[in-house]
Amino acid sequence: MIINFGSINIDHVYQVDHMPKPGETLFSKGYDKFLGGKGMNQSIAVAQARGKLIHVGAVGTDGQWALDEIRGLGVSLDHIITLSDKPTGHAIISIDRKGENQIVIEGGANQSFTSSMIENSLKNNSGNGWVLLQNETNLAREIVQAAKEYNMPVAYAAAPFDAETVLSLISKIDLLAVNQGEAEALSRTLGVPLEEIPVSQLLVTLGQDGARFYKNNERFDQKAFQVEAKDTTGAGDTFLGSFLAMHDMGCTLAEALEYAAAASAIQVTRHGAATAIPSREEVTSFLHERKSG
Ligand code: RIB
Repeated sequence: MIINFGSINIDHVYQVDHMPKPGETLFSKGYDKFLGGKGMNQSIAVAQARGKLIHVGAVGTDGQWALDEIRGLGVSLDHIITLSDKPTGHAIISIDRKGENQIVIEGGANQSFTSSMIENSLKNNSGNGWVLLQNETNLAREIVQAAKEYNMPVAYAAAPFDAETVLSLISKIDLLAVNQGEAEALSRTLGVPLEEIPVSQLLVTLGQDGARFYKNNERFDQKAFQVEAKDTTGAGDTFLGSFLAMHDMGCTLAEALEYAAAASAIQVTRHGAATAIPSREEVTSFLHERKSG
């Protein structure tokens, strides 16, 4: 079981020739609206991998479109509240011709989590799987503290990266997920090399270079599958959600890493974040083709 205290965003996505420079006004080459939010992307990855999931989250009264998308992708709305005084979180995303992105987020309802949301989701699941969170919601410290009280390991995606927040949580995190830039920033802040960051499990996603996983002084390397990327938005979220789901369902680390690499390879060949995440069947047949081809 994965209990994900996760952000929900409406992603407004603009295709651009290049990223705008300071002071530059740019026409977009295309616009789309997608379901996103690092938290929801990770939840969809868990659900697509057929992992057990509770998504705890919040939207505003303008969030019906997002709720319909979430339900349509197989995630229960039971622990998602609708707030009357906050807008749904959203992201303004520019995608350039290489599929690279630049993202600005507005927290909205994601910043209005309450203690009762934590209590209601954990009270019947003590000791049952992982608590997952990212840095797009409020109450991170309370969520981590409650997870410890309910005897559940914590996986934390330190994105958007904030050194102070990571430092305040790190002693209680069991699995830390970062990308290469975040890993370097954290190493610098702590003054230690990557492999000495003090967590028992560290996942570093490296984009086209795959991923590295460190567990109790052991290192596992996962290569990326080569694909033509159209949109890399949510690729790291796809990797983490897929990996955690497979890990939680009892796969070996090598199997979980390979599944996650395949899921994110497929995801970047499609537009959008959450809706681009492949099903378990799609990942299985992709792996079969790549291994036999
Ligand atoms: O990681 C990608 C996500 O970051 C997007 O879906 C956007 O909503 C932002 O939260």
